[in-house]
Parts: sequence; C-alpha cells; structure tokens
Amino acid sequence: GILLTSAGAPAGDEAYAVEVAPAGVTLRAGTPAGFLHAGTTLRQMLPPAIESATPSAGPWTVPGVRIEDRPRYPWRGFLLDCGRHFMSVALVKRVVDVLAFYKFTRFHWHLTEDQGWRIEIARFPQLTAVGAWRGVAGGKESAARHGGFYTKADIRDVVAYAQARGIAVVPEIELPGHCKAALASYPDLSCTGGPFAVETEWGVHADIYCAGNDRTFAVLEGVLEEVAELFPAPWVHLGADEVPKDRWKACPKCRTRIKAERLKDEAALQTWFVRRMAEYLERKGKRAICWDEILEGGAPQGVIVQAWRASEKAVSAAARAGHDVIHSPYSYTYLSYGIAGYWMNLEWVHKFEPTIEGDPPEKESPIGPEAERRLLGGEACLWTEGVEEPGVFPQILPRLLAVAENLWSPRAGKAWPDFSARAEAQRARLTAAGLAAGPSVYVDPPRP
Ligand code: ACM
Ligand code: ZN
Repeated sequence: GILLTSAGAPAGDEAYAVEVAPAGVTLRAGTPAGFLHAGTTLRQMLPPAIESATPSAGPWTVPGVRIEDRPRYPWRGFLLDCGRHFMSVALVKRVVDVLAFYKFTRFHWHLTEDQGWRIEIARFPQLTAVGAWRGVAGGKESAARHGGFYTKADIRDVVAYAQARGIAVVPEIELPGHCKAALASYPDLSCTGGPFAVETEWGVHADIYCAGNDRTFAVLEGVLEEVAELFPAPWVHLGADEVPKDRWKACPKCRTRIKAERLKDEAALQTWFVRRMAEYLERKGKRAICWDEILEGGAPQGVIVQAWRASEKAVSAAARAGHDVIHSPYSYTYLSYGIAGYWMNLEWVHKFEPTIEGDPPEKESPIGPEAERRLLGGEACLWTEGVEEPGVFPQILPRLLAVAENLWSPRAGKAWPDFSARAEAQRARLTAAGLAAGPSVYVDPPRP
C-alpha cells in the first residue's frame, strides 16, 4: 500500500520524502505541494509505459529508495507566447501536464501581443472581436487568417487544471507596448488615433498606448479588474519590454503629461504609466511583474523584475534597486531559439545557472550575495513567431528538462554526463505520453 503522512516530513514549503521498502511506500510532506512532488517522484520511478493513455494493469515494480528532496528556488516557470500564435486549451493543458511532471510551479501565460489579443474582456468586446484575428504573418503560416481567444470559461478551466497540479497561472497583459491588437480594437487609446490593423509583421512596433490620454488608464484598469477576478494567483505580469518612445515624443497629450507630472523624459513616463497600473493591481491584492526594461526609468517599488537581457546585468541591477527577480536570460532559457551547432543544444541549456549573468561565455559574472537573496528563481520562455501548435513540444523538449533541473537542484554536484543520461532516459516516457521531443544536439540537414 501507499501511506501518505505528515509525520517525519522534511521542513520546507515544497519538501518531501519518499520511502520504498518491502512493507510498502511512504510519502511524507508537510504541504499539499510536497505531497504532489512525492507522488510525481514515485510516478517517475514507474515504467515509462504507465504514461500511455491506456496503460496495462500492472503489477508495477519500483526500486527500493529513501529520497528526501526540496527545490532550490520556488519560482520555476515557463512562458508560453499565445499572442504570436494562438494555442488551443487542449495544447495549453498538455503543457501544464509536462510542467507538473517536471515540478514547475508557474505557468506564465503571455496573452496579449501586437499580433493578437487572446483573453475575453466583457467590458471591451472589441479586444477579441477585432484584436484576436489577423492576416498571415511571415508568409509561411498554415491558415490565411490566424487567431483565436480564450473565453472566461476557458481561462477558469486552465487555472483550475493547473492549480490541481501545483502550478499557479501568471497572466501577462503587455503595456505600454506590444499592444497593436488592442489599438486596432480601440484606436482612441493610441497617440495618433490610428486606424490600425492587428499586426502581421514580427518585431517591435512604434504604436503604443497613449500615456497622456486618461481613457487609456480607464480601459486598462477595466481590463486588469477582470484579469484580477479570473486569476487567483497574486501576480500579474505587465510586460513593459521593448517600448519605442517615438510616438510619446511627438504626442501633445504625452508632452503635457510629462510636464504636469514633472517627469524627466519618456523613460520616466513609462515608469509613471506602469506605476499607475501596479498601484491599481496592489489595490486588487496583486503584485506586478515587469521585464527588465522597466529599470531604465526606475522600477516602481514592489515590482518584481524579470531579467531577460543577459548583457544588461539586469539581475544585479534589479536587486540593487530593491526588487525581487526572476531570471530568464535569453541566451540560455529562450527555447524559441533552435539548436544551431553548440549554442542552445541540451548541454548548453544545462549550463544555465541562475546566479550567473552576462552574455556567454566571455562576459559571465556572479550576481553576488545580495542579488542571490532577491532571486525567486527563473523561467524558460517559448516565443512563438516561428512555432505553431504541432511545433511546441519538439521545440521545448528535451531542453525544458535542463531548465527544470537548474531551478530545482543545487549547483554543487551538477554534472552534465549524469544529467544527460537521465534526460535521455526520459525520451521513452515522453514517447509513451504521446509527446514529440526534439533532438538534444544539432544534426546537419541531409544533403540533396
Ligand atoms: C522579451 O523577450 N521581449 C521579454
Ligand atoms: Zn500620447
């Protein structure tokens, strides 16, 4: 039999122990998260065939073990960009399954982009009626019109599904940039008045929310109110990355705002904009997360900074400014990059170390003890300009396992041959689960 008990449970929010002896299996934990991890570890010791949709009845044998385990960081996340390409609820749930199996704790759901607005907002129906649909992008997509969005029922379904598996869903509503789909829906929120089409080109786009227009804030507060109601987790990601300031420089309303608020420049205006939104979220009991560009105008107090630009030493900078940090250096954790040569293959991603930053390999430096105390953990990211639904798992597997390993396990004892063997052994399990994994190393395409 299997005994679940809090007696003799190891200390720590997510700590657990598993004992397999002739007399039976004992799972010890002091928290629901600990029991989930103990159960997952037991499942990982069963034969891969149990992952199939129709496993045989057994009996299964498990090796005799005594395991006591706890994670290095609490924030072990994965971002899925559903803005560039819409991903079905079924696909999203499969992603959550994989995250749960590798003991991730956060699903970062990137829901709004220049190329699509993906979340139903009752007060502003144009956001999805117009903003969820676009023409083909990049010229090589599977449909002439692309799009889709999540209804409130879809979102509640995904949130509950993830919660049952120990994963908090962190929604991202991008502002003040990456919002062309919203501007196509409500052009009066822009500096120029439009008109706009939902964007079909990738990249960074000039049109952003007008910071001088009070209606911008009324609409965004309405959006965030509905978002805060839908997602029980205490965090909302506000984006704030890649915001060109050209429109603000030329806009009379934005100039007036800068004067009235006695702001130094457009970077300060961005901080003012985000602070307003972060304070609104605070009144709803939520903390804002922003990408590291928010440091350029000074990040509002209490905001969590997600550091992605490795060369900016963003983790250290954010920690010095008193912010908690999530580390997502693009050069290790952006799984949207393919495997080319050595860079971004499985072995490279396994080199990701959350306490090191810089552009690899020559500029790497430790973040220091103060920043280490501020480090909540890290996230892998899948941006989907080049990926549609069938491509998601071959793109992220098996490399996601290396990110999971680096966020869970202590740095001491980290060894590539050991990890490599364990990661390759997962292939049978992924196959049994019907998940297509990609290669671990670069393979030259066949010559014609
Ligand atoms: C980002 O990659 N723009 C966060
Ligand atoms: Zn403006």
